[in-house]
Amino acid sequence: MSYGELCTRFYDLDKPHAPELALEWFSARLPQGRILEPMCGSGRFLLPLLQQGRSVDGLDASEAMLRACSARLAAAGIAHASPWRAEDYARCRLWLQGLDSLALPVTDYAAAFIPSSSFCLLADPAPALRRLAAHLAPGGLLLLEFEPPHEAPAPPAETTRTVHKGAEQIRLVMRHEYDAQARVEHYFNQYELKRSGRVVQTETETLRLQCYSPQELRALLEANGFADAGIEHAGFGWCASATRYMLV
Ligand SMILES: C[S@@+](CC[C@H](N)C(=O)[O-])C[C@H]1O[C@@H](n2cnc3c(N)ncnc32)[C@H](O)[C@@H]1O
Repeated sequence: MSYGELCTRFYDLDKPHAPELALEWFSARLPQGRILEPMCGSGRFLLPLLQQGRSVDGLDASEAMLRACSARLAAAGIAHASPWRAEDYARCRLWLQGLDSLALPVTDYAAAFIPSSSFCLLADPAPALRRLAAHLAPGGLLLLEFEPPHEAPAPPAETTRTVHKGAEQIRLVMRHEYDAQARVEHYFNQYELKRSGRVVQTETETLRLQCYSPQELRALLEANGFADAGIEHAGFGWCASATRYMLV
């Protein structure tokens, strides 16, 4: 289980807002028209873009993350349609789906964007890119942030962090390993929710993050429905842009 309930609660207390530089970078490049944010999580990028007046749909495979996203939008007064809110509102729809098997009724998005290196979580990125291309209008833009391979091998490490809300605290013990040969980061995470000092819920998750060199990512994009792939180091991280070139 990944991005479950405790992970979502920890994430929202730990990272409540989108990093400013990243938000600016994506916002400045997104065209007018309907936009899709695959792997949107609990909506820390989605909300400010909607508040700018844009039309943005969010998509995520985690029910916990998408419920938190729906709650975040509702708290900000943003009407939206989701698997749990039947309201048919044109400016934002939330989809509970995996990117790998994406099948939406909308297939003419002007752009899609995937921040926070979430793209690197995909175990099989080629079919996901082809499904994504099939949901963009011809010439539609894809923007994504990715993680490059580490320059030096890193020994396994363990870190512990705790976040608080009222009488509750959530502790995350994160074990991190880097496989330098496969260029894969592995995370073994354990969450523990304490209420008034007593452990009331626990959750474990494993995450696998594939790192890409700029050349590899360009080739991956261009082999799976995208053209004109450009790669840049954008201050906050490495980013790629490409346009959809064919029906797949
Ligand atoms: C690191 S979070 C980032 C969320 C958001 N972009 C942000 O910056 O806050 C990664 C998200 O990707 C989602 N995810 C992972 N694999 C997925 C897949 N195959 N299809 C759709 N969503 C996926 C997770 O559920 C999680 O919400």
